[in-house]
Amino acid sequence: MNNSKNNNSELLKAQAHIWNHIFNFINSMSLKCAVELGIPDIINSHGKPITISELSSALSIHPTKSHCLPRLMRLLIHSGFFALSKTKEQQEEGYVLTNSSQLLLKDNPFSIIPYLQAMLDPVFTKPWNFTSSWFQNDVPSPFEAVHGKALWDYAGCDPKINDLFNNCMDSETRLITSVLINQGKEVFDGLNSVVDVGGGIGTVAKAIAEAFPHIECTVLDLPHVVAGHRDTDNLKYVAGDMFEAVPPADAILIKSTLHDWSDEDCLKILQQCKSAIEERKGGKVIIIDMVIENQKEDNVATETQLFFDMLMMVLVTGKERNEKEWAKLFSAAGFSGYKIVPILGLRSIIEVYP
Ligand SMILES: C[S@@+](CC[C@H](N)C(=O)[O-])C[C@H]1O[C@@H](n2cnc3c(N)ncnc32)[C@H](O)[C@@H]1O
Repeated sequence: MNNSKNNNSELLKAQAHIWNHIFNFINSMSLKCAVELGIPDIINSHGKPITISELSSALSIHPTKSHCLPRLMRLLIHSGFFALSKTKEQQEEGYVLTNSSQLLLKDNPFSIIPYLQAMLDPVFTKPWNFTSSWFQNDVPSPFEAVHGKALWDYAGCDPKINDLFNNCMDSETRLITSVLINQGKEVFDGLNSVVDVGGGIGTVAKAIAEAFPHIECTVLDLPHVVAGHRDTDNLKYVAGDMFEAVPPADAILIKSTLHDWSDEDCLKILQQCKSAIEERKGGKVIIIDMVIENQKEDNVATETQLFFDMLMMVLVTGKERNEKEWAKLFSAAGFSGYKIVPILGLRSIIEVYP
């Protein structure tokens, strides 16, 4: 009797676990809804905890939906995006921002709204529906199975997606760049020139150029990405292909780009990077990417790294790598050593020496 009771309770737990996974997308979509409604900005501009009726009227919620808003807010409180609080003068509790929703304010320089908008756009979510069939055919990625082209070619043909993706990368890179410049500035000691390979619209290079005016910075990216971006005194944009050539410099920076590619492709890119620093004394490659399995004690961090690994599988042809996999790549590309500096949250700085 007791055994079957235990067994039933385990089964009910298992069912709940499955439900939780089936409905995981409700977390993403509810967050998207709150951002589209502009809820974080409304709460922020209110200046004190905002009650449900104040929020409802600020958002012009239709009267037939006013009972739905607290339900959306309840879920987002549960997931840590908002909290309830009240000042001494207030009778009723109101909503306030948390650290996470501060990053969803439009005017926050570190806002990751463009990242959310891109990753939850149907162009980027649709390929997930084709992952199982992709496993059984030889198309390079589910993205390519759906859209007929690799992401980079698709962006080259669709200016809206090109902007969406470039702004998405710009928004996620700003915070990391600020930490890099403030807490990791030794990385740039002794350097007079840096080329940012796959540097997007120049988020990192612009910040380095401003913080270290003596460093000549170059952004190398595909023509449709760098088009229309103006050179400044110590920053220039070069349209090119990192598989063909990388301009010479004291250091090559490469952020969130190697993880887009297979080991075979990374080897080619790393060999180009190595040739670019060959003649320079103290030359190095500075990689900014994840080193997975380095945060095992933090369940959310680990899950997020595993999500990124799947993302690289579905949207492009890359993967996230652990230290052993990185080390193998560096040695295959002919580098003599490397140093990991884990100061960027889920990402690390990896200095690689010729
Ligand atoms: C994930 S984004 C990273 C952008 C930027 N490094 C950042 O972290 O914000 C990868 C970049 O690689 C660029 N890319 C793809 N193929 C390339 C190639 N063959 N040569 C140069 N850049 C390339 C893409 O256009 C894109 O800007």
